[in-house]
Amino acid sequence: MHEFKPHAILPEQIEGLAQELLQASKECLLNIAASKSRMEKQNFTPYVRASPWLQRYSSLIPNFGPILDIAAGSGRHTQYLLDKGHSVVSIDKDVSRLARIRDARLSIAQVNLEVPRSWPFKSGAFAGIIVTNYLHRPLFPIIIKALAAGGLLVYETFAQGNEKFGKPTNPDYLLEPGELIQLTTGHLHIIGYEDVAVDQPKPARIQRICASRHPPDRNKRLPINT
Ligand SMILES: C[S@@+](CC[C@H](N)C(=O)[O-])C[C@H]1O[C@@H](n2cnc3c(N)ncnc32)[C@H](O)[C@@H]1O
Repeated sequence: MHEFKPHAILPEQIEGLAQELLQASKECLLNIAASKSRMEKQNFTPYVRASPWLQRYSSLIPNFGPILDIAAGSGRHTQYLLDKGHSVVSIDKDVSRLARIRDARLSIAQVNLEVPRSWPFKSGAFAGIIVTNYLHRPLFPIIIKALAAGGLLVYETFAQGNEKFGKPTNPDYLLEPGELIQLTTGHLHIIGYEDVAVDQPKPARIQRICASRHPPDRNKRLPINT
C-alpha cells in the first residue's frame, strides 16, 4: 500500500510560506471585488436596464416577425427582447458592444445610418421597431415604411428642454414639441405618448411614443401594466 509522506517544511520556511499565502488571499479577494463591480456595472446599473417605456409596451409587439433595434448600442434592448422570446435584428455603426450577445435569434448589421441610401431592409420587414436615445430625422419615413401591418413602433429620445439637464444640447438631437406625434400621424395608430422630464436613469427631458401600424383589432384589450 502506498504510504503518504507529507512534504517536509522546515521551521525557517514557515513564515515565508505564511506571507505568500496571505498575499495570494489578498489578490484573490481583490479579483473577486473587481469582478463583482464589473458585473454590477453590466447587469444592474440603470443604463443597462431596459427603458421603462419599452417595458411598458413590449407585450404589444406581435411575434409574427423580427424586431429591429435601431442604434442598438450595447444591446440592452436587444437582450431584453431576446429574453422575451423575439427574434431581433440590431443595427448600429459600431457593433462591437453587441458581440457579447450570443443568440441564434439575433442578427447584427453594422451600418452608418446617416449615409444616404444605407438602409439595408425591405418595407414591412419588422413586427416591431425600437429606437431609443438616437435621432436622425431623415430616417423617420424609412422607419415607418419598415414596419409591417400590425407592427409596433417604440421610440424614445431626448427632447427640447433637455439643454437644462445636460447633453445632448444640439437641436439636431432634440425632438421638437409634438414631433413624434407628427411623425406618426396619418401612418400609425398612437397608443401612448409623453413629453416629460425624468429623473432616471439621469435627469433629462424626453419624448416617447408607442404606435402601431393599423392595429388588426382596435377593440382588443391591451395587456399593459399602467
Ligand atoms: C446613446 S447610444 C443609444 C444606444 C441604445 N439605443 C440605448 O438606448 O441603450 C446611441 C447609439 O447610436 C449609434 N449611432 C450613432 N450614430 C450612428 C449612425 N450614424 N449610424 C448607426 N448608428 C449610430 C451609436 O453607435 C450608439 O450606439
